[in-house]
Amino acid sequence: MNSIVPLELSSREAYLEQLKMRNLLAADVATFSHLDSERFGIRVARAQVVRETLLRVLDFCAAERIDLLIARCGTSDLVTAQEMERNGFLLMDSLVYYGFDLSRKAIPLWPCDFLVRRLEADDHDQIRLVASQAFKGYSGHYHSDTRLDQRKCDEGYISWAERSLTSNGAADEVLVAEHNGSVIGFGTLRSNSAREVEGLLFGVAPEYQRRGVCPALMVQSLRWCHSQGAQKMLISTQVTNVSMQKVWCRLGFEPSHSYYTFHKWFKL
Ligand SMILES: CC(C)(COP(=O)(O)OP(=O)(O)OC[C@H]1O[C@@H](n2cnc3c(N)ncnc32)[C@H](O)[C@@H]1OP(=O)(O)O)[C@@H](O)C(=O)NCCC(=O)NCCS
Repeated sequence: MNSIVPLELSSREAYLEQLKMRNLLAADVATFSHLDSERFGIRVARAQVVRETLLRVLDFCAAERIDLLIARCGTSDLVTAQEMERNGFLLMDSLVYYGFDLSRKAIPLWPCDFLVRRLEADDHDQIRLVASQAFKGYSGHYHSDTRLDQRKCDEGYISWAERSLTSNGAADEVLVAEHNGSVIGFGTLRSNSAREVEGLLFGVAPEYQRRGVCPALMVQSLRWCHSQGAQKMLISTQVTNVSMQKVWCRLGFEPSHSYYTFHKWFKL
């Protein structure tokens, strides 16, 4: 097996120049992340890596003077994962995807004593509050990286929730769980295609956790998928987030696929 070894600087620069001239440093292997870069005050890129693209991803980072690369690779692709380890990538989390096939399964019932409804204009502040409480110190790849400011990692989830609330934002639908007039949980959804909807961010206020709020949001999410004509709902979380996976298993979601999330810092 050939190990991917970075070229010597001089020949590497010439090589990058060649790639640039031949327009081969295309952003199809990696993208500059404006959101992460602004938040952490460094240059951050993101990539989905397979062995064949790893060298091009590293070249992209060199050409774009990237400080931190956030890269995912399939958990069954151990050849690539080990190649990334040899190149100084550090494992930060493992993401597991579950799916619900609406063409094969009926949407389950989930009786509850609170309301689940669509987003309303004056929910924004309360959703921000729930997100800030639910995701404080969350065990995802940002918080796992000791070089990142933990407060800014918390802010990342709050701002993700906020971006979902605007039209043309990060989500196509936002659902809210309400009890005694207060927002106690929320879930955001995006249509990936006519056939597939993805659940993005779900959070329940700590004092309302373990009371079946999230399953109620999930069931309403499945109903929204159905209303959109989608056949599949896809959703992901860290493999360590057993609470979330219990919710999905109890509702009939099935495990689908998984990714490792690595971080590579280019400045030591
Ligand atoms: C994960 C989460 C959405 C689950 O929502 P929920 O409304 O509490 O779900 P449920 O009431 O159905 O509980 C599901 C399971 O998780 C467990 N659980 C929920 N919150 C928990 C907590 N804070 N600590 C330990 N276990 C917890 C429950 O005990 C239950 O398991 P059990 O029935 O075997 O006891 C919610 O705990 C949460 O917001 N967590 C923080 C943010 C997060 O992880 N979001 C998901 C990532 S997208």
